[in-house]
Amino acid sequence: MENEIRVLIPEDEVDRRIAEIAAEISRDYAGKSVHLLCILKGSVFFTCELAKRLTVPVTLDFMSCSSYGSGTISKGIVRLVKDLDEPIEGRDVIIVEDIIDSGNTLSYLVELMKARKPASLKLCTLLDKPSRRVHHEVKVDYTCFSIEDLFVVGYGLDYDQHYRNLPYIGVIENE
Ligand code: PRP
Repeated sequence: MENEIRVLIPEDEVDRRIAEIAAEISRDYAGKSVHLLCILKGSVFFTCELAKRLTVPVTLDFMSCSSYGSGTISKGIVRLVKDLDEPIEGRDVIIVEDIIDSGNTLSYLVELMKARKPASLKLCTLLDKPSRRVHHEVKVDYTCFSIEDLFVVGYGLDYDQHYRNLPYIGVIENE
């Protein structure tokens, strides 16, 4: 059965909000360069749209992790699947995510990245589900949208690897 998708955040609203966040980051990093870390795969679309709108110099790197393990999501073990290509020591780094749920992934990534001694480390996400947070130590610096606990797709977010390419944030109605 084909899924019915309801638009939760339309494309123009997503684009407008990304432009606002990009302007904020550009102000905060005036006179510096930012090194964006895109967490594959979901964050690809957001990272590109954000990067295009930044007015400070930008470099990019990519990493991939997976969570696994039985029990609750908070106990999921995060495994690094693809590491960064370059060192981040001394760089002004922003980790870019499509969504933060329990905070499990970012909790792991932040510790891993801090150990590599960047000049600064901040977190930026397209979507946040604060009601699902388990790792409250994860502080997000730039959030485009806080949403309720809905299963969302589009703008990089998938359902069984589909719908990442939708240009808006949608909710599957008939899952
Ligand atoms: C999603 C998302 C985050 C993580 C958030 O990735 O991109 O990395 O889950 O959940 P958490 O806060 O509970 O850790 P996913 O594992 O679905 O991989 P994908 O980006 O390749 O779809």
